[in-house]
Amino acid sequence: MDKLKALFKERFTTATEEIKVLLSAHGNEVIDEVTIDQVYGGMRGIKCMIWETSSLDAQEGIRFRGFSIPELRQLLPRINGATEPLPEGLFWLMLTGDLPTEDDVKALSLEWAKRARLSDADIDLLDHMDSSIHPMTQFSIAIMAMQSTSLFAHEYEGGMTKSRYWEFMYEDCMNLIAKLPLVAAYVYRKTFYGSQHIAPDPKLDWSANFAHMLGKDAPEFKDLMRLYMTIHADHEGGNASAHTVHLVGSTLSDAYLALAGGMNALAGPLHGLANQEVMDWIYDMIEDLGTRTPTRDQISDYVKKTIAKGVVVPGYGHAVLRSPDPRFLAQRDFARKHCPDDPMVQIVWHVFDVVPDILQGLGKVKNPWPNVDAHSGALLEHYGLGEHNFYTVLFGVSRALGVLAQLCWDRALNLPLERPKSLTTEEIREFVASKKVKTTLSV
Ligand SMILES: CC(C)(COP(=O)(O)OP(=O)(O)OC[C@H]1O[C@@H](n2cnc3c(N)ncnc32)[C@H](O)[C@@H]1OP(=O)(O)O)[C@@H](O)C(=O)NCCC(=O)NCCS
Repeated sequence: MDKLKALFKERFTTATEEIKVLLSAHGNEVIDEVTIDQVYGGMRGIKCMIWETSSLDAQEGIRFRGFSIPELRQLLPRINGATEPLPEGLFWLMLTGDLPTEDDVKALSLEWAKRARLSDADIDLLDHMDSSIHPMTQFSIAIMAMQSTSLFAHEYEGGMTKSRYWEFMYEDCMNLIAKLPLVAAYVYRKTFYGSQHIAPDPKLDWSANFAHMLGKDAPEFKDLMRLYMTIHADHEGGNASAHTVHLVGSTLSDAYLALAGGMNALAGPLHGLANQEVMDWIYDMIEDLGTRTPTRDQISDYVKKTIAKGVVVPGYGHAVLRSPDPRFLAQRDFARKHCPDDPMVQIVWHVFDVVPDILQGLGKVKNPWPNVDAHSGALLEHYGLGEHNFYTVLFGVSRALGVLAQLCWDRALNLPLERPKSLTTEEIREFVASKKVKTTLSV
C-alpha cells in the first residue's frame, strides 16, 4: 500500500473511533435551530453535514485542515522550481490532515502522472462531441463516460463489503484526479485549437503538466495554475458543487457519477460559471463605454446600470463570506507581483474600488465584497487563455481535489444516505397556526 493510502487508513481508523465516542456521549445534543426563513432561503447556515477537508469562516475565509491560504502559500512544499504551492500538497493535507514533505509531494505527483491515461473510448467520445457544446458540458459528459472504469462500481457489483468501500473509492479518486487535466486539456484543444493536441509530460507536476497540455508553457503561467488549482480546491461542504458530490456519493454512486453531478452544479452562473460571467461582463462594459481604460466613475455608472437591469454584478457577493475573499486577495497578490500594469487586471482592481460601496448602498446585499471569480479571468487572459467559456472547467479540475478527498472520507466513515426532510407550504402554515394556538393558550 502506498504511503498516502496507508496514512489515510491510519487517520480514518482513529477518527472513526473518536467519532463513535463523541456520538455516544453527545449524539443527542442540539447543535442548531432552523427558522422558516432558512427553509425558504436556500438552507443558509444550517449546520447539518460533516465535511473534514476544509472549513469556512464568514470573516476569515477558507481554512484547509486549519491552514489559511496565506499560510499554505508559505508551508506547502514546492518542486520543479515552483514559486507557488503545489495542489498535490494540498490534496495530501486534505486527505490526511498532515502537511506533506517535499518527497511526499514528488511521490504523489509521480503517482498521478502514472495513472494519467485516457482510453481509446474516452478519446473517441471526446472527439465526437460537437465543439459548439459548452466546454463545461463536454467535461461533465466525459467524466460520466469514464464511469465504466470505476473500480468501486465494479467491486460493488461483485459484492464488496462495507469495510472495503474506502479502498476502491480511494483508487477511483486517484485515477480520476490524474485524468482530469487530460480530459480538460483535450476539450480545450479540440474546441479552440482545431484538435491540435499536446501530449502530457510526465516529468512535470500535475498543474504544470496541465498548463503544458493547454499549450501554455510560460513558467509564470505554470505557477498561476499551481496557485489556481490550490485555492479553488475546496470551500467546505455546503456549496452547491461540494454538496452535490457528497449527496450523490451518499447513494453509493461511484466517484465518477458523483463528481459529474458536482460539475453540473458548478456550471451554474451563481456558482462556478461566475468566472466566465465576470469577463463577459467586463467586455460588455468596455464595449458600452467605448474604452479599454475606463475611469472609476465610468465603471461606477456601468455597475449602477447593471443593477438597474435587475441582474447581479458577477464576482461579487457570497452566501457565507462577509469580507473580501482570501482567494481573490491571493490572486491580486499574484497579479501585483507579475502583471500589475495589465489593462484587464487594472479594470478588475478599479471594479473592486467601486462595487462594494454601491452594493452596500442597496441595503439588501449581505456581502458586497469580491469572491474568487472576480479576479481569475483577468489573470488567465494575461497569459493568453482568453476563452472565457473554458474558465469553469479549470475551476472544476481544481474543485475535484477537495470534493474527492472528502468523498474518500465519506466512504471511510461510512456516512449514510443523505435524506433531509422537506415541507410543503401547507405544512408550514399548519406549523405556524399550531404555534399561535399554543401561544394563545399559554397567555
Ligand atoms: C453568490 C450569491 C448567489 C449569493 O447569494 P445570496 O446568499 O442569496 O446573497 P444575498 O443574501 O446577499 O442576496 C440578497 C439580495 O442581494 C442581491 N445580490 C447579491 N449579490 C449581488 C450582486 N453581486 N449584485 C447584485 N445584487 C446582488 C441578491 O440577488 C438578492 O436580491 P433579491 O433579494 O432581490 O433577490 C450572490 O451574491 C450572487 O448572485 N453573486 C453574483 C454571482 C457570483 O459571483 N457567484 C459566485 C459566488 S462564489
